[in-house]
Amino acid sequence: MDDGAERIFAALRDVSQSGAPLYLQLKKNIEEAVKRGLIGPGDALPSERDIAAQADISRVTVRKAVQDLVKSGVLVQRHGSGTFVAPRMERVEQSLSRLTSFTEDMARRGMAARSQWLDRGIYTASPDEMMVLGLSASELVSRLSRLRIADETPLAIERATISASVLPDPHEVTSSLYLALGKTGHRPVRAVQRISAVNLGEAEAQLLAVPIGSACLQIERISYLASGKVIEFTKSIYRGDAYDFVAELRLPGPDGQEGEAT
Ligand code: GLP
Repeated sequence: MDDGAERIFAALRDVSQSGAPLYLQLKKNIEEAVKRGLIGPGDALPSERDIAAQADISRVTVRKAVQDLVKSGVLVQRHGSGTFVAPRMERVEQSLSRLTSFTEDMARRGMAARSQWLDRGIYTASPDEMMVLGLSASELVSRLSRLRIADETPLAIERATISASVLPDPHEVTSSLYLALGKTGHRPVRAVQRISAVNLGEAEAQLLAVPIGSACLQIERISYLASGKVIEFTKSIYRGDAYDFVAELRLPGPDGQEGEAT
């Protein structure tokens, strides 16, 4: 038996000591073992059969506890190889003063970025899109919805809208939207971002591989060309356990304007 299994069995020994349902006791014990660091991120859980034998409870009870812990993101199950303590998320520190793309941000950190397409097509503009992009009711937009993934960890869901007069074929975007916009001279040079807190619903939680109701950051980016024309309207949802947004603050100058750089 390896160390991880021994440690978890030590934590399981007192199952059935209290009056609570057995699966809840087992669940609590595993949670405690993870919290106290007795078993760490990536450690394999002993097999269902071993846990059942050791704690003297049925395999059905073990399965129920394990399934609950998978649902709440404490454990992960990998098909064919077993159940593991969920890996700890390395937090990404993101500056709020640089207008960069997801692909560039991940490349700077040495992470491999990729996207899973959720939707990509031409639509009539919604009232919101018309207002932000300055379009009339008859104008079309390209919509691009992607799950953004870095080193195989899903980090964000991004839904971008670009006027179809700028991006007539959304399939021209392969790995990076900003790369595609740059090719036609439409890469934004300035953006305004609005960040708010939301809790994830079921569909988005599943895409981001976190428990339903997890805290996350909703970010709306409106980007501009040098001419002042709005080029991009993107609504994103970033995992709250993965991102720290960092902004530099300065004292205002005597006239209330932004202070001088030191
Ligand atoms: C960031 C921004 C999005 C922008 C995207 C472009 O993630 N939040 O508003 O659309 O970068 O990224 P890429 O060029 O990798 O598609």
